[in-house]
Amino acid sequence: MLNISAGTPDLKALKTPGLAILLEQGASAGSAAIPALSGLDESIAAAVRRVITRRDFRGARDEMMHMLGVEGGIERVLLVGMGSVTDRMASLRRAGAMAARRAHQGGFGRLALFAGNLTAAEAEAVTLGAIAGSWELKEFQTPPPEDERRAPLTEATLVGGGDVADGVRRGIAIGEGHSLARRLGMLPGNVCTPDYLAETAREIASRHEMKVTVLGRREMEAEGMGSFLSVAQGTPQEPRLIVLEHRRGGDAAPIALVGKGLCFDTGGISIKPAQGMEWMKFDMSGAGGVLGAMEAIGQLGLEANVIGIVGSTTNMVSGTAMKPGDVVKASNGKTIEIINTDAEGRLVLADILAYTKRFAPAVAIDAATLTGACVIALGHTATAVMGNDDKLVQEVLEAGRRASEPGWPLPLWDDFKPLIKSDIADIKNSGGRPAGTITAALFLKEFVDGFPWVHLDIAGTSYSESDLGTIPAGPTGVPVGTFVEFVRGRAR
Ligand code: BES
Ligand code: MN
Ligand code: ZN
Repeated sequence: MLNISAGTPDLKALKTPGLAILLEQGASAGSAAIPALSGLDESIAAAVRRVITRRDFRGARDEMMHMLGVEGGIERVLLVGMGSVTDRMASLRRAGAMAARRAHQGGFGRLALFAGNLTAAEAEAVTLGAIAGSWELKEFQTPPPEDERRAPLTEATLVGGGDVADGVRRGIAIGEGHSLARRLGMLPGNVCTPDYLAETAREIASRHEMKVTVLGRREMEAEGMGSFLSVAQGTPQEPRLIVLEHRRGGDAAPIALVGKGLCFDTGGISIKPAQGMEWMKFDMSGAGGVLGAMEAIGQLGLEANVIGIVGSTTNMVSGTAMKPGDVVKASNGKTIEIINTDAEGRLVLADILAYTKRFAPAVAIDAATLTGACVIALGHTATAVMGNDDKLVQEVLEAGRRASEPGWPLPLWDDFKPLIKSDIADIKNSGGRPAGTITAALFLKEFVDGFPWVHLDIAGTSYSESDLGTIPAGPTGVPVGTFVEFVRGRAR
């Protein structure tokens, strides 16, 4: 994990293996950010002015230029473009990530980041970006021989002044939440099991004085969770229902954050094609998002009551697995006809959402990699947002916008309900391909009783199949930022 701090605003005294200068598009040699460079070693400042005047470097989004500096002073200079800035926080964060990723790959070891005078919120954005850009999971690979190794980026400082210390501290808290979620997403299914998620929750609880509760198969049987358990019956692994309670908000009704934690999804008897099935280790990204958000909320010490609830198991093919046509009963008494065993996430969440009621939440937000249809509708760009309360939907969309984790609403109309009507049970778990993301959410709605609720389908946004420039292919950390921003918005 990157160790990042607020550094000296005195650029003259700066000694660093690398200085990243984040610049807006069209910053001319005479513009606001540049005079601040007059604090720099004069030969470096002159070189920077020259490449800008010549337009060798224009500051386009993601544009980077690596220049040599001065031995014993600023040894390398990395110019990083922010493009034409419309959302300053998003641009600073992105540029911070590009800079840190390049410095990490380039073996800088340490990096100073300069973006002029920053407010606390801007410093938070750069910090978040730098943590995201330098994150990786290397523990399963043998390191290269000593003489081929490059120094990983272990330290970063924000230079340039402003009241940044608080922003850096908050950026670290949220960045660590993101990193935890990404780590859990990246870990293979044979390592990141339901027990592993429970153990992770226990660690979060002990770090931040939260209450943790972990239920297993026997306790869930006692709760009558026939829906969740129909998925878990195909695996010998112990399924886990995990609850984390952060109680820092007096007697206010809590915010419930709920996550789908399928540590692997084969599809079950309705088995998935082999092609790309390995991606289904990410099917616990909702759970990873809840745990990451709880870590961040704990570190931030947010004055709010927040309950994190995770339902975790794996969806396997076995002699004990549920079958299409089976009818099961959820803990709220509703019966479900299983049409497709690959629609397992909603079966798990049905009992988890019913369980959420006992906390008498002010609101509940669930996040789940629930439908392939969501990836078809919104790609890897936007999270689908639906719920039973339009004001809450707007509040969650706004939180996602602040977190640079954009969401987009889909209509959760009753008109779609006939698609999941069953001839034998109260409801069926698949409505086929039409409106697949909406029918999945309508299914969940049947198990929400007595509180405003929003569902986030993060099937596309919680991981990327291609390199995003700022981060490599793999988990993105979504929806940690959305969760944290939502809680922050209410805590304030
Ligand atoms: N975990 C998958 C959804 C998914 C698919 C996430 C692709 C990310 C990428 C979920 O459990 C699932 O398999 N859903 C089915 C539902 C269908 C059978 C009604 C789907 O989307 O195909
Ligand atoms: Mn599935
Ligand atoms: Zn799934």
